[in-house]
Amino acid sequence: MTKIALFASGSGSNVQAIAEAVAAGSVPAEIALLVCDKPDAYVMKRAEALGIPAFSFQPKQYESKQAFEAEIVEQLQTSGVEFIFLAGYMRLIGPVLLAAYRNRIVNIHPSLLPAFPGKDAIGQAFDAGVKVSGVTVHFVDEGMDTGPIIDQECVRIDSGMTRDDVQKAIQKIEHSLYPNVITKLLTEHREEQTR
Ligand code: GRF
Repeated sequence: MTKIALFASGSGSNVQAIAEAVAAGSVPAEIALLVCDKPDAYVMKRAEALGIPAFSFQPKQYESKQAFEAEIVEQLQTSGVEFIFLAGYMRLIGPVLLAAYRNRIVNIHPSLLPAFPGKDAIGQAFDAGVKVSGVTVHFVDEGMDTGPIIDQECVRIDSGMTRDDVQKAIQKIEHSLYPNVITKLLTEHREEQTR
């Protein structure tokens, strides 16, 4: 089984969805580590309940981003992690992690990129009055939500929908799209290795 890490900073509903898909046998992976930059985040409670090993840290306690990313890389390598999936990790990935896991870091973003990158993409789309938004899964590069797109799915924003309704619709899609994309990537990876 390919070992993966999930990175999160918040509630962790995507972590939960991925972990459930792994437990159900539909995602061919072992979640070897959760990395969390907010020790008080709800995702840490989920990890405990799900039995996922977690590494949480306070960025402020390190000298630099380079320093905490070096520690993360060490943790990932000790756990045998091959792929990283960001699921609400609210930090830009820096050169240390990118160099160690080039083309092996994937993110999910709640808009149809390249529209509405960055923070509060759902609020940005809602305020712009667009009638279609959605979810993007993409590889991570040094930019903010700029890497090559792997898959997207759209959500209609009908008049009368509140911001909350849009968020719920987007999350529902995220929770099926992300496990499906992970399965596809890991299956391709396995096939490449056995070729
Ligand atoms: C998701 O909307 C994801 O697209 C974005 O951050 C949010 C995380 O939500 N990157 P959760 O913590 O998984 O519930």
